[in-house]
Amino acid sequence: MFKPAVLLALATAVMARKCQNLNIPISISARNAVFNLPNPVSEIDVTNFALSLTRPGTDFPDSILTGYKTVSGKYSIAATYCQPDHGPGKALQILTHGVGFDRSYWDLSFNNFNYSYVAHAVDEQGYSTFTWDRLGIASSSKGDPVNEIQKSLEVAALQELSILLRQGSVRGISAKFDKFIHVGHSFGSAITYNFINANPDFSDAAILTGFSQSQNLDFATAFLLGGNFRPVKENPLLAAKYPIGYFAPQSSIGVNIQFFAPGDFDPKMLANAFNIGQAATPGELLTIASGAGDTNSFKGHLLIITGERDLPFCGGNCTDTTSIQGAFPDLLAPSKAFFPSAATFNTSIVPGAGHGLNLGYSHKTTYASMFDFLSSFY
Ligand SMILES: *[C@@H]1O[C@H](CO)[C@@H](O)[C@H](O)[C@H]1NC(C)=O
Ligand SMILES: *[C@@H]1O[C@H](CO)[C@@H](O)[C@H](O)[C@H]1NC(C)=O
Ligand SMILES: *[C@@H]1O[C@H](CO)[C@@H](O)[C@H](O)[C@H]1NC(C)=O
Repeated sequence: MFKPAVLLALATAVMARKCQNLNIPISISARNAVFNLPNPVSEIDVTNFALSLTRPGTDFPDSILTGYKTVSGKYSIAATYCQPDHGPGKALQILTHGVGFDRSYWDLSFNNFNYSYVAHAVDEQGYSTFTWDRLGIASSSKGDPVNEIQKSLEVAALQELSILLRQGSVRGISAKFDKFIHVGHSFGSAITYNFINANPDFSDAAILTGFSQSQNLDFATAFLLGGNFRPVKENPLLAAKYPIGYFAPQSSIGVNIQFFAPGDFDPKMLANAFNIGQAATPGELLTIASGAGDTNSFKGHLLIITGERDLPFCGGNCTDTTSIQGAFPDLLAPSKAFFPSAATFNTSIVPGAGHGLNLGYSHKTTYASMFDFLSSFY
């Protein structure tokens, strides 16, 4: 006779998704900005960069912009494809992580994968998922931190990967899909925003998590200065993985400020988030807003979902509309005007959640809301 625990283990094993790690060669080009900025090398360089970027009354990126240049390259993208045990899922979700993490943000092993979005999507909801380390980050190719690893080149990477996935020409993925959902978090949402604007018919639905278009300089300041960034070469966890010029929070305090809301997290998850944390480039932060104010031509179903206490996109309170003079009921609502062609437009504010939606106790509410949205179409 099996003991109940053994039966449970067997039942869990039956649910287990099948995942495959991939290294995908891509050849891309993009029109990048050229900044007159030396690599920030020292602690003071990195702090000065954050102080310059957050100074009111000046457009720092514009003040150091010398022109534009087409950057072309061959890169290797580290990715993971997962599908249900029984075969390909009903649609492919392409998941793009934000600043401070890599693709493991979507499939956190913490607490036996209890927080894993991928586990929910594949095992419980029957989707296939594709997560990738953004170009320049973690196990994907690195590049010049100022003039190469910028938003537009990362958008080009997402576009190339999406095309290869639709063609069925990613080696290691035999399934071919005709339904796609693009999902981003934070900077990954900003990248997804630009991608779906440039490719309005590509995906059936898109979800922008940890995102709004109401962020103002105060919100960015809290995130950029609160993060307490330090040169990657001084960070023992990351020094060997990144070239000079990248930076990351100095300690878990910066990660706490940037991604966690009081009362919504397990302290062990904060420690975990710091341990799996990744670096960012000055080029990314200088270009983060490019295209973000463009009217979006996306034609699919759109959901924006953000934690009530999100710091960088809501200043810590998505229902406080002081910064937009009370013109809308909350800080997500203004985005509706940016999506005039979307088949449907929905927003969701997760009560008590911070910026790192997948990291909080509230992740269950977040995922329920995301799958509720998707279940109206699939
Ligand atoms: C996560 O943990 C909670 C509480 O311990 C439990 O109820 C739930 O079933 C777990 N979920 C998964 C996917 O393991
Ligand atoms: C957020 O702002 C709203 C409107 O100003 C306020 O009513 C609410 O109490 C605030 N929420 C928190 C958690 O402080
Ligand atoms: C989502 O938006 C559509 C209109 O775009 C609306 O009909 C629907 O009720 C919304 N759903 C939710 C859950 O708010």
